[in-house]
Amino acid sequence: MTNYGDYQNDIYRGGLQGRLPTYPVDYPSLEHKAVQALPASVYSYVAGGCGDEHTQRANVAAFHRYALTPRMLVGAADRDLSVSLFGMSLPTPIFLSPIGVIGLCAQDGHGDLHAAEASARTGVPMIASTLSQDPLEEVSAHTADTPTLFQLYPPHDRDIATSLIRRAEHAGYRAIVVTLDTWVTGWRPRDLNTANFPQLRGFALANYFSDPVFRARLAQPPESDLPAAIAYWSAVFGNPLRWEDLQWLREATSLPLLLKGIQHPDDARRAHDYGIDGIYCSNHGGRQANGGLPALDALPAVVEAAGDLPVLFDSGVRSGSDVGKALALGATAVGIGRPYAYAMALGGADAVVALLRAMLAELDLLMAVDGFPTLADLRHAGAGRL
Ligand code: FNR
Ligand code: LAC
Repeated sequence: MTNYGDYQNDIYRGGLQGRLPTYPVDYPSLEHKAVQALPASVYSYVAGGCGDEHTQRANVAAFHRYALTPRMLVGAADRDLSVSLFGMSLPTPIFLSPIGVIGLCAQDGHGDLHAAEASARTGVPMIASTLSQDPLEEVSAHTADTPTLFQLYPPHDRDIATSLIRRAEHAGYRAIVVTLDTWVTGWRPRDLNTANFPQLRGFALANYFSDPVFRARLAQPPESDLPAAIAYWSAVFGNPLRWEDLQWLREATSLPLLLKGIQHPDDARRAHDYGIDGIYCSNHGGRQANGGLPALDALPAVVEAAGDLPVLFDSGVRSGSDVGKALALGATAVGIGRPYAYAMALGGADAVVALLRAMLAELDLLMAVDGFPTLADLRHAGAGRL
C-alpha cells in the first residue's frame, strides 16, 4: 500500500539535488500566485462570494475551532484512506467539487479537461459541472478509470434536463448531483461592481450548446446567433425546485441521486424520504447566501439526520488537515473547491495533481502522527470543539 505521506520524501530528496516543488504546497501561496496568473475578471469571479463575504470567510475560520486529539502507541505505519461510495471503490476520501468556470482557469481555456486528467492520474473523482467549457462527454473521456459524477443544474425545461441526464448516463457518469442552492445567483458585489458574469458572455455553456434538445429550441444554432442562444440559456437555467419535483428527478434516472446544498437536518431527513441516495452538505463556498452558518458547523447534525446515507461535504477546505476534521465530523468524502481553481491557473493538470498529492500527503501524515490508521478510526475519535 502506498502511503500518500511519502510524497514529502520526494520533495525533500529533490531539494538535495537543488529542486524545489514546481507549485506551492500551501493554500495562501497558491492563491497569491494565482492572482498574478489569472485574468482579473476570472480571479474575481472565483475568489468572490455573496455580500461582504462573511460566510465565505467563516467557512474557512470554522476549521480552526475544531481539534483532533492524537492517540499514541498505535503504530499507524500504514494508513488506509479508501472509501466505498455507491459501489465505487475510491482510493481516497477527497473529490473535486464542481466548478463552473474551471475551464477558464486553465491557461488554454480547457480546465474541465485538465481537471479530468488530474482525476485520471490521482484516482480522485471529479464532479463535473453542468457549466463547462467542454461538453460532458469529452470531460468523462479524459477521466480514464477514475469514476466521475455529474453535477446537474436542472433547467426549467424538463426535456432539456432529461437530455442532460441521459447524456451523463451514456457517457458513463456514476451519479447525478443536483445543486439546489443556485437556481438564482446570490448577490455578489465583486462581480456586480465589474458587471461581470461569465455565462452571460457565453462562457461555460458547452453542455447546453451541444445538447440536441436545447439546440432544437433555438431559431438559429448558437454558432449563428450567440446572443440569442445565451438569452435562451439565461431564461431556462434556474429552476426553483420544490420537494415534489424530486419525484420526477428520482424517476428520471436510475443513477444514484445526491442533493447539493443541504445544511438543515430536516432537509437531510426529508431527502431520505424521497429516495435520495446521498446528501451533499455545502453552502457553495459562501457564494450564494451571506450570513449563514459555516458549512462545517452544519455538518454534524446533517450527518446524524442523514442516517445511513453518505454525506459529502465542501466549503472552506484548504488543507489536508481540514479534510481530516471534516471526516472526523462524519463526512464520507470531502470536496476541494477554490484551491484547485488556483492550482489550475498555475499549471493545469500537473498543478492540480501536485495540489491533490500535497493535500493527501498532509492528511495521511496527520493520520500517521495522530494514530488513526483508518478513516473509521478518525471518525470514531471525532473532533473536539474549541
Ligand atoms: C462553484 N461551485 C459550484 N457548485 C456547483 O454545484 N456547480 C457549479 O457549477 C459551481 N461553480 C462554482 C464556480 C466557482 C468559481 C466556485 C468557487 C464554486 C461551488 C463548489 O462546488 C463548492 O461548493 C465551493 O467551491 C466550496 O467552497 P470553497 O471550499 O471553494 O470555498
Ligand atoms: C457559481 C455557480 C456557477 O458559484 O455555481 O459561480
